[in-house]
Amino acid sequence: MGDRPEHIAGVEHVDLAGKHALVTGSTSGIGRETALALGRLGADVMVHGRDAAAGAAVVDELTAMGREATFQQADYASVDDVRGLAAAVQEWTDDLDVLCNNAGGLFRDGRLTDLGVEYTFHVNHLAPYLLTAELLETLADDARIVTTSSGAHRGVELDFEAIESVDSYSGFRAYQRSKLANVLFSTALAHRLDRTDRSISSNAFHPGAIPGSGFSRFLPGPLPRLFATLDRLPMTTTVAEGAATAVSLAASPRVDDVSGRYFADCEPKEPSAAARDRATQRRLWEQSADLLEIDEPLADGRQ
Ligand SMILES: NC(=O)c1ccc[n+]([C@@H]2O[C@H](COP(=O)([O-])OP(=O)(O)OC[C@H]3O[C@@H](n4cnc5c(N)ncnc54)[C@H](OP(=O)(O)O)[C@@H]3O)[C@@H](O)[C@H]2O)c1
Repeated sequence: MGDRPEHIAGVEHVDLAGKHALVTGSTSGIGRETALALGRLGADVMVHGRDAAAGAAVVDELTAMGREATFQQADYASVDDVRGLAAAVQEWTDDLDVLCNNAGGLFRDGRLTDLGVEYTFHVNHLAPYLLTAELLETLADDARIVTTSSGAHRGVELDFEAIESVDSYSGFRAYQRSKLANVLFSTALAHRLDRTDRSISSNAFHPGAIPGSGFSRFLPGPLPRLFATLDRLPMTTTVAEGAATAVSLAASPRVDDVSGRYFADCEPKEPSAAARDRATQRRLWEQSADLLEIDEPLADGRQ
């Protein structure tokens, strides 16, 4: 049992009974492990993804623990689906205690979504931005928002033109930009929440390079098979280890008053200089609202 996320994070004694958690992208990988760990700690959990059969299997595991669990299908490339997910959460609870913005991936082929936005940026950043905006009033006053970014956010700047183009598309470059957007978003959200009279935290994290999640299915050629081989090596980061930082940020009393930070291995780390740039955080926040044609969320807390 010592290899479970809650044990790795040292939060196995935390009691989340009566709490409501939404973990996006919890049909597989890091999200699935996070959802199950939060369930073992006592939380009721909404499971999300596109794969209904995989979602039902996670719900069954949570129900077997005695938790109230439900699956909501939503394709993150669809604005309507994301709004539907938010509506389902609002039906489910008035007080969302934990929001894990985890769904995402690396996508090989360059394409634009219905909004005219590059697919990776839309799925990995715009969708959780919209979901969070839609759920602001549903979050408990001491809620925790946890965003799964990646160490891949390093070594790239946010190229605002590339967000609406797939000319000379590189899947990894697009992924890097989207993961940088995750840190910029999480930090900007924390600053804006700081200016409210609520105690909602927002932190981002890098789960590690984890060949054992479903992530490698997006990679070309022989890479998925190579990843499966790597997963058997003892020095590899396991999916449970990857989920441990999410579970720590969602449940640990150690981070009660921590917001606007970036973590790896359950410890705060410095994100890249590009991720810390306030002007880019502000521009991303405003441009995301423009792309979605919504009012700027938390506009009163503008930095
Ligand atoms: N594995 C790594 O090495 C690694 C490293 C750094 C960061 N991360 C991040 O960790 C997060 C989880 O990835 P993972 O490694 O656990 O991979 P995974 O096993 O493939 O899980 C990805 C999850 O995201 C969901 N998802 C993907 N595209 C979606 C879409 N268009 N609409 C709705 N849901 C979608 C999937 O649900 P369905 O399949 O049901 O649609 C699945 O539940 C991602 O944000 C990823 O960027 C992973």
